[in-house]
Amino acid sequence: MKSITFSNGDQMPIIGLGTWKSKPGEVYQAVLWAIEAGYRHIDCAAIYDNEKEVGNALDKAFKDGVVKREELFITSKLWNSNHRLDDVVPALKKTLKDLQLECLDLYLIHWPISFKKGVLFAQTREEFYTYGDVPLSQTWEGMEEVKKMGLAKHIGVSNFNITKLEEIIKSSQFAPEMNQVEMHPFLPQDKLVNFCRSKNILMTAYSPLGSGDRATANKKANEPSLLENEVVKEIASKHRVSSAQILISYSVHRNIAVIPKSVNQDRIVQNLASIEVKLDENDMEKLANIGTSYRFIDGSFFTGTQSPYKLTDLWEKE
Ligand code: A2P
Repeated sequence: MKSITFSNGDQMPIIGLGTWKSKPGEVYQAVLWAIEAGYRHIDCAAIYDNEKEVGNALDKAFKDGVVKREELFITSKLWNSNHRLDDVVPALKKTLKDLQLECLDLYLIHWPISFKKGVLFAQTREEFYTYGDVPLSQTWEGMEEVKKMGLAKHIGVSNFNITKLEEIIKSSQFAPEMNQVEMHPFLPQDKLVNFCRSKNILMTAYSPLGSGDRATANKKANEPSLLENEVVKEIASKHRVSSAQILISYSVHRNIAVIPKSVNQDRIVQNLASIEVKLDENDMEKLANIGTSYRFIDGSFFTGTQSPYKLTDLWEKE
C-alpha cells in the first residue's frame, strides 16, 4: 500500500477507513472487513461515539492473529470540550481505553473551537469558550505533552486554516505534523495544500465522497453530488471503475491521505482497490477544473447566533 511519510520516517497508509457516521452495531463489522481487505489505517474520533466498538474489533483482529498492532495506523481526535491544558491527556487516555490501545499513531485537535468541559455540542453562549479563554496554543501544549508521554507518536490538527496553523507553529515546541480537512474536487484546498507542503505538514482528506449519509439537519438544500458529477462519471467510465474510486484516486494522486467511510463490505473492498486506478494528467486537469465549488461540512453547527465563533474565522477564501 502506498503511504505518506512523516519526517521521522514513520509511514501512514494513504487510504484509511473513515468511521464518522458508522453506527454502533455496524462499525465493528466494518473495521473487521476493512482489516481483512487489507486496510492498515483507521480514522477515529471520540465524538463519533463508536470508539469502544472500534476497540472491540481491533482486539478481535489482534487476538485472531489477523494483524499486529504495529502494522496498523490508528488516528483519533480531541473533542472541543477538552481543549484546556489539563483536559487533553485525560481525554486521550479515555480514547485509548475505548480503543484498547497503549498509544495512538496520530492524535489531532478535531476543531479550532472550544466548548466548556462536559458540553457535547455547545448551543448557548455560556457553553462556549473563546480563543481568549482557551488559546489554541494552550491546547497545542497539551498535544505536545501527549507526544512527550509517548501516548501518541504523531500530533496534528483538523479543520485548521493557514492563520490558525501559523499561530500554533509560532508558539510550538513540536509543529503540527498533520492537518485533516474536507477535500475533494469541489474543494481542492490548493492554498492550504501549498502552505502545508511548505511547512512539512502532511494532509488527510475527509468526506472525499461528499458525505452523503450526513444527518439531513446538516445539509443545505440542493447540495451538488460528487458521486453523480458528470466529469467524475466520465473519467470513471474511461477507467471502468466507480465514481467513488475516481474520487479516492484523486487524493492518492495528490499524495494526500484519504479516509472514505463505508460500512458495506463490497464498498469497503472497492474503496481500497482505488489504489490501482492510474489517473493521467488529463484526468487530473479535468478534476481540477470541475467547475463546481462546494464545502459540505462548513462548520455552521458551531457558528450560530449564540456562538462567539464566526464562519469567516474558520475558513480562508480558496
Ligand atoms: P456506506 O457506508 O453504506 O457504504 P464520505 O466518506 O465522504 O463521508 O462518504 C460516505 C458515504 O459514501 C456513505 O454514505 C457511504 O455509504 C458512501 N460510500 C462509501 N463508499 C462508497 C462507494 N464506493 N460508492 C458509493 N457510495 C459509497
